[in-house]
Amino acid sequence: MVDTFEQLEEQIKDCKKCKLCNNRNHIVLDDGKRDAKIMFIGEGPGADEDAQGKPFVGKAGKLMNQAFKGLGIKREDVYITNIVKCRPPMNRNPEKDEVEACLDYLREQVMLIKPKIIVLLGNVALKTILGNEYSITSARGKWIEKKDIMYFPTFHPAALLRDETKKIYFWNDLKEVKNKLNNL
Ligand code: URA
Ligand code: SF4
Repeated sequence: MVDTFEQLEEQIKDCKKCKLCNNRNHIVLDDGKRDAKIMFIGEGPGADEDAQGKPFVGKAGKLMNQAFKGLGIKREDVYITNIVKCRPPMNRNPEKDEVEACLDYLREQVMLIKPKIIVLLGNVALKTILGNEYSITSARGKWIEKKDIMYFPTFHPAALLRDETKKIYFWNDLKEVKNKLNNL
């Protein structure tokens, strides 16, 4: 257990708890406001994130920024992180042992942030946090309350790059999230 983000940064720097440490350039911990009411959880860093040390700065991140901007959500006002903090090779999904090794950090992040809302971006975040019985196709766009946190699964923005028809759902989902946030 840590009490501050400084302690968490100290704990994670040079982390070698899983094999993803072997090829990373940067550990990608987070971005945004560290006392936000809302947290976005993606999957893991891609090439751009690994190069810059910040989550969601590549193509998928730019798409997410556009949606934020269009809906009047300030990226600086939300907290953004990933399930694993080091880039999986070839952008493959993180493996079970990697997720398990890295999850301690995410637990610390949630305890420090104490978010009211957690947006789960894509299947890896959804299944890791809420369980394997969930899938984005059926769970997206619906609120799931657990232990005083409102979870909201939606598509991963990278999925919108592969399939344009998903954009409208993502947009509407974020609109729903913004309404909820405004009424907190
Ligand atoms: N995809 C993710 O899941 N996270 C990032 O930070 C970037 C792309
Ligand atoms: Fe450590 Fe997480 Fe990186 Fe694995 S992915 S080396 S557990 S910080």
